Amino acid sequence: MITKPKGTYDLYGTEGKLYSYISALVDEYMVNYNYSKIRTPIFESSELFHRGVGETTDIVTKETYDFQDRGGRSITLRPEGTAGVVRSFIENKMYGNKNDPIKMYYNGTMYRYERPQAGRFRELTQIGAEVFNSDEAATDAEVISLGYYILKDLGLENVVVKLNTLGDLESRKSYTDALVKYLKPKINDLCEDCQRRLETNPLRVLDCKFDAESDILKNVPKISGYLNKESQDRFNKLKDLLTMLDVDYEIDENIVRGLDYYDHDVWEYYLEDGSLALGGGGRYNNLVSTLGGPDIPAVGFAFGIDRIIALLKDRLSEKELETNIDAYIMAVSEEEKLYALKLSQDLRLNNIITEYTTNNLSLKSQFKIADSLNAKFLIILNNEDLQKGLINIKDNATKEETKIDESSIIDYLLSNI
Ligand code: HAM
Repeated sequence: MITKPKGTYDLYGTEGKLYSYISALVDEYMVNYNYSKIRTPIFESSELFHRGVGETTDIVTKETYDFQDRGGRSITLRPEGTAGVVRSFIENKMYGNKNDPIKMYYNGTMYRYERPQAGRFRELTQIGAEVFNSDEAATDAEVISLGYYILKDLGLENVVVKLNTLGDLESRKSYTDALVKYLKPKINDLCEDCQRRLETNPLRVLDCKFDAESDILKNVPKISGYLNKESQDRFNKLKDLLTMLDVDYEIDENIVRGLDYYDHDVWEYYLEDGSLALGGGGRYNNLVSTLGGPDIPAVGFAFGIDRIIALLKDRLSEKELETNIDAYIMAVSEEEKLYALKLSQDLRLNNIITEYTTNNLSLKSQFKIADSLNAKFLIILNNEDLQKGLINIKDNATKEETKIDESSIIDYLLSNI
C-alpha cells in the first residue's frame, strides 16, 4: 500500500466540511471588507523566498522544499503566501493610484519541511490577507480586527491578539545592537542555532524554540526600551484603535515572528488557553522594494487553517457535525428510480438539499439511510400514485404523511423546510 508522505494528511469527512465552512465564512467577510481573491503559483523561483522571507530565517535555511525542475531552474514550494503575492503585485504592476489601498486574500497550501507534531504539518493550508498602499495605523487596526472577528465568528470566542512592535529601521538597529551586546558574553550557553543566529540575524535568537525557557532569553532587553518617538507614537495609536474596535489584545514582547520582512507592528492570534498560534501577521513596508518594486507599504496576516479545523472539530458536538438534508427520495422499481433521478435534479436545482440512491436497495435500507442523513422529508415514490400524478411525502419529525400533486412538490418543500 502506498501511504501519504510524512507530515501530510488527507482532508475529508468532518474536516472536509469544516474546511468548506471556514472558507465560505472567510469569503463572506472578504466581500464585506472589499478584498479580492488572488491565486499565485504553489512553486516559485527559489530566489523569491531567499530575498523575501529572509536568507537566515529557519524557514529558508531548514524548511523549504527546493528542487531543480527539468529545465535546471531552482524552484521552491512556497512556505508562505506573502512573498508570492508581493511578487505578483510587482510583476502585474497592481500599484493602482498610490493612495488607493489594494486589498487581496488567498486560500491555499504551503510547504515547510518541519518536524511533524500536533498542529505542525509539512503541507499546511493558510488563508491570508494583504493590503498595499497604506501606511496608516488605522489600516493595521482594520486588518488585525478582520482576523480577530473571523475567528470569533467561527466560534473561537476566547481569541486574543498577542501584539508587539519591531519599530522602524532606526529603532530596530539600536535594539539589535543592545541585544548583541547583552548576548555576546553569554552565547556559549545557548544552542548552536542561537550562536549562528547571533552572527547572522540576532533578532532570530528571540525565536529560538529550544532555549525559550532559559534565564538568558527570559531576561533579554525588551524592544520597548529602544523605540524612537515616531515608532512609539505609532504603536500607541494602534493600541488605542484596537481598543476602540473592541479587539482583545495583549502586549507580548517575545513576538518577533519567524520571517524577516516585518517592521512596526507584528501580532499573532491565540486562544487564551492555547499554545499554538492560529495565525500571525504584521506590517512589511520594505518587502515590495526589496523584491524590486516601488516603495510601497503593506500589511497582512495569515491563518493556519489546519489548526483551526482541529480546534473546531474538538469543540463541535456530534449533533453539529451531523449531515442534515431536506428530502430523501425513496424508489424501488425501475420506473420509480427513473422518476427519482429526474425529481432529485429538479429539487436540487431549487436549492432543496436532496439525496436518493441509484443502487438496488430495499425500502427498509432506504429508510435507514434517510434517518442517518436526518432527512426532514421522505418522498416515498410508488408506481400507482405516480401514474395519477401524485407524490407521497412524509414529514419525518411529525410522521405525518400526505399525497400531493407532483406539480406542487417544489413549492410544498420550499414552504416547509
Ligand atoms: P506564519 O506565522 O509563518 O506567517 O504562518 C501563519 C500561520 O500558519 C501560523 O500562525 C500557523 O497557524 C500556521 N502555520 C505555520 N506553519 C505551520 C505548520 N507547519 N503546520 C500547520 N500550521 C502552520 C506567515 O506565513 C506570513 N506570511 C503571514 C503574513 C501575511 N504576514 C503578513 N502577511
